[in-house]
Amino acid sequence: MNHLVTASQFDPKQLATLFELASEMQEMSQTSRGRSALMRRYHGRLVATLFYEPSTRTRLSFESAAYRLGMGVIGVENGTESSSAAKGESLEDGVRVVAGYADVIVLRHKENGAAMQAAAVSSVPVINAGDGAGGHPTQALLDIYTIQKEVGRLDGLNIVIGGDLKYGRTARSLAQILAQYPNNNIIFVSPPYLRVGDDIKHILRESQTTYIETDMLHESLAAADVVYWTRIQRERHDGTLQPVENYVIDQSKLDAMKRDAILLHPLPRTGEIVPVVDSDPRAAYFRQAENGLYVRMALLDWVLAKSAAHNHSKPSK
Ligand code: CP
Repeated sequence: MNHLVTASQFDPKQLATLFELASEMQEMSQTSRGRSALMRRYHGRLVATLFYEPSTRTRLSFESAAYRLGMGVIGVENGTESSSAAKGESLEDGVRVVAGYADVIVLRHKENGAAMQAAAVSSVPVINAGDGAGGHPTQALLDIYTIQKEVGRLDGLNIVIGGDLKYGRTARSLAQILAQYPNNNIIFVSPPYLRVGDDIKHILRESQTTYIETDMLHESLAAADVVYWTRIQRERHDGTLQPVENYVIDQSKLDAMKRDAILLHPLPRTGEIVPVVDSDPRAAYFRQAENGLYVRMALLDWVLAKSAAHNHSKPSK
């Protein structure tokens, strides 16, 4: 079964193929002829979006992607309260049942490892749309796609990744993918109590990706090709969060960046990038969010094409 549960399951060759498809779909989406052709691709198929945590971008871009490929969409947007999880049904039972109604399941859940649990029992592909503070692989794929488009390469980069690196799943997944490309150097910027997990540092060491950890934001910016900024994940802290100060990207921080660097953020932002920065051409986060649509169209195509190939190769009963 062709599940997408972790950022590290793609290699650079597969990513290049995926991004070519995303680019093609982006181009096709600009013309009515192209949009009609896309609508015929998966007519009659269904995506189930099971969201047990809030979302704007991930859920709506997946649903938009499905409609644009001619698919239908079923789903729950507040699954903890509006699905039978509220009556005590296990995630596994819910997923088993929904797999009988849809061709793909897109799952967001508050527990680390939920996507893996779902994939273990699902008879249709499961796509991880964020599981707790574990990972958010489809976000990392659109982040990487954006870097490729905006900077023109995915190797030999200095990348500042900053904010809440302890609970920020997008930062974790992005680092995992960057580790697949040679000669990248990551500067993790956070207060000491919000450092990235040892599991990610292990992956970086194994792949010989260099990294440093610092709490000095301003000093880190001058050499960066990419600045990837994230919010504090207040919902994952237990009420003892220390005040986080001086982690705001404002005009003075922008002035410290290279002229050809880019500033990314998975969004939503909650004050850590001031709006005045938005009009600078280096502020790429709204372009990044739009890219998510095309990368998710390509991902739906990827899982459905692979599961069709898998079903064809099964001996008939
Ligand atoms: N970046 C991201 O995952 O946004 P949402 O939580 O709105 O889906």
